[in-house]
Amino acid sequence: MMSVMELYQKLETQAVQVKALETAKADKTEIDAAVQLLQKLKVDYKQVTGEDYKAGCPPGADDEDTVDPWNVSTSNAKGVDYEKLIVRFGSSKIDKELVDRVEKVSGQKPHRFLRRGIFFSHRDVHQVLDAYEKDKCFYLYTGRGPSSEAMHVGHLIPFIFTKWLQDVFDIPLVIQMTDDEKYLWKDLTLEECHHYAAENAKDIIACGFDVNKTFIFSDLDYMGSSRDFYSNVVKIQKHVTFNQVKGIFGFSDSDSIGKISFPAIQAAPSFSNSFPQIFRGRTDVPCLIPCAIDQDPYFRMTRDVAPRIGYPKPALLHSTFFPALQGAQTKMSASDPNSSIFLTDTPKQIKDKVNCHAFSGGKDTVEEHRKHGGNPDIDVSFMYLTFFLEDDEQLEKIRQDYTSGALLTGELKKILIETLQPMIAEHQEKRKQVTDEMVKQFMTPRPLKVNF
Ligand code: TYM
Repeated sequence: MMSVMELYQKLETQAVQVKALETAKADKTEIDAAVQLLQKLKVDYKQVTGEDYKAGCPPGADDEDTVDPWNVSTSNAKGVDYEKLIVRFGSSKIDKELVDRVEKVSGQKPHRFLRRGIFFSHRDVHQVLDAYEKDKCFYLYTGRGPSSEAMHVGHLIPFIFTKWLQDVFDIPLVIQMTDDEKYLWKDLTLEECHHYAAENAKDIIACGFDVNKTFIFSDLDYMGSSRDFYSNVVKIQKHVTFNQVKGIFGFSDSDSIGKISFPAIQAAPSFSNSFPQIFRGRTDVPCLIPCAIDQDPYFRMTRDVAPRIGYPKPALLHSTFFPALQGAQTKMSASDPNSSIFLTDTPKQIKDKVNCHAFSGGKDTVEEHRKHGGNPDIDVSFMYLTFFLEDDEQLEKIRQDYTSGALLTGELKKILIETLQPMIAEHQEKRKQVTDEMVKQFMTPRPLKVNF
């Protein structure tokens, strides 16, 4: 079924088509047919959204939540309304049936991110599992935009989950470092972005990926060296119009042509023949992309173009956002240091940031808190624990004690600090062991261990 967003994009394209035909004084029957289709799409749109189509005004534009690759914000202290987002983006909810199926197919207890709804939405994951059950391999694709040396804890979420997926399904993985994207969007030199790609790759490798099954690549390096990858980029570019990317990404006439054509570069790794050294030229190896939902616009475009260039649509697993310290109204962002716990933070920095900045759902005085209890749904420390505390029972006990007032805000923060400090220290230790030679190994185009 077409999503609301896809319907809106179709309408935008059709409205432009009608105008173009009228301007070109085209044949009357041709204009009438185009107008008729436009009217039909408008009726469909009204039926689905209950609202009239307005040119340049995407569905959900009046909602409180903004979610795109560059901005995430909401006025709701509990965070983005993810149920609404599923409807708006036309994806599917990860329900108990899917979680149970992952458990059955992989033979492993589902990762806490799945058990707790942190990965909450998907596209076509059942199809990938169907293929896997028939002994067909699929591959994982994820990525990072290297805009600075230090990644924050939020950036780790998709990588932690991808590592789990690689382990339980024993499948190959490609990781795109979009140094080109960061050059286009940020005030950075190409050299800086390329350098950050290698630095960030160290943090990614420290998550424990299997070198025999993982290819990490910088766009600047790989695009120039792989004719197959670039061929796919060009194919995608030929089949997506400026009007479509304007509709999806909100680009304006004054955006550089680099930005306008970039989505094709993020789309290309979704197709297995972009990596002939791994998939030996096969075009049909299914791809599964774990990412936070902010990246979905890229893959809506990818899924739209895939059948037109003869490739399967990639499947997706979407995560919620790891919130900023100040509250779930926005995601943790590297451009605001006080909003984030960085992977380079010292134990003292972690302690100070949590104590001073983590938004509390507790009451103002101990007396009031004991009497009325705190609200874990808006409490950032509790939210962080849902991402990182492995023990379900312990987490539930903390939730109950905080809600009843038995657990104070300071005590909750202490539990979080004691969870984060060893976790970050362990990451730093593992990162120290990642040598330049290892980075080179992961980033060299080469065959991987693939079971076809
Ligand atoms: P980037 O570098 O902004 O983010 C890297 C990955 O982290 C996710 N993410 C978060 N997840 C949870 N909570 C947060 N606060 C948070 N902030 C970021 C992002 O969704 C992403 O998965 N253009 C991309 C790079 C890219 C990519 C991909 C990402 C290229 N190909 C394929 C995912 C899948 C970017 O700049 O990501």
